[in-house]
Amino acid sequence: MELEKQLVIAIDGPAGAGKSTVAKLVAKRLGYIYIDTGAMYRALTLKALQKEISLQSEVNLAQLARDTRINFIKKGLEDRVIIDGLDKTEEIRANRVSNNVSTVAKVAEVRGELVRIQRELAQSGGVVMDGRDIGTVVLPEADLKIFLTATVEERTKRRYQDLQQKEEAVSFEQLKEEIIRRDEIDRNRDIAPLKKATDAIEIDTTKLNIDAVVDKILTICQEL
Ligand code: DC
Repeated sequence: MELEKQLVIAIDGPAGAGKSTVAKLVAKRLGYIYIDTGAMYRALTLKALQKEISLQSEVNLAQLARDTRINFIKKGLEDRVIIDGLDKTEEIRANRVSNNVSTVAKVAEVRGELVRIQRELAQSGGVVMDGRDIGTVVLPEADLKIFLTATVEERTKRRYQDLQQKEEAVSFEQLKEEIIRRDEIDRNRDIAPLKKATDAIEIDTTKLNIDAVVDKILTICQEL
């Protein structure tokens, strides 16, 4: 689909609302770049865990953010996440990373460093960026802001299916608790909390399939 202008599209929402799946497909249909900002916070978390850097040490985490190179590359049809030259696409999705990432994402200097990179990546437009603070903080001038939601039951169901495919053992109830806890930290942190921008369009994806959400967003793009 071709639009007159190279738009900047921000997609925010809680864990499991469908952001990355939807953002990827919207980007593909428009021929845009997709930037997964959650993957950047996950990358730093994975590296901190592997290097046994204390997640309580803000100074060390800030240094880690400055010392880490995160790149997104396309390998065939797939987006790969490269950390310091190594492909860590699968590792950053491990549940251990999910359960620690909100602690890393609370650190002001970590956010400062990543937000700077995110703004650079969006500079020339033609981009779909997803995260928690894209419409509110990273790209407040975005042409279109979408806020995706779904019930916690539905979001847990989606993550549960993802993890089962990866054969990571976790019970549904435990996963639900972890998602609730993570959302709570993301919503209540001092800096750039998860929040719907006042000018964002909210889409509840609980009962919608992926294609319906993508079509809805593309229709809005055509009307801009
Ligand atoms: O979208 P995700 O589950 O991969 O995001 C992982 C975590 O990173 C999430 O719990 C909160 C944090 N995050 C953030 O604070 N700001 C963003 N723009 C993206 C993610």
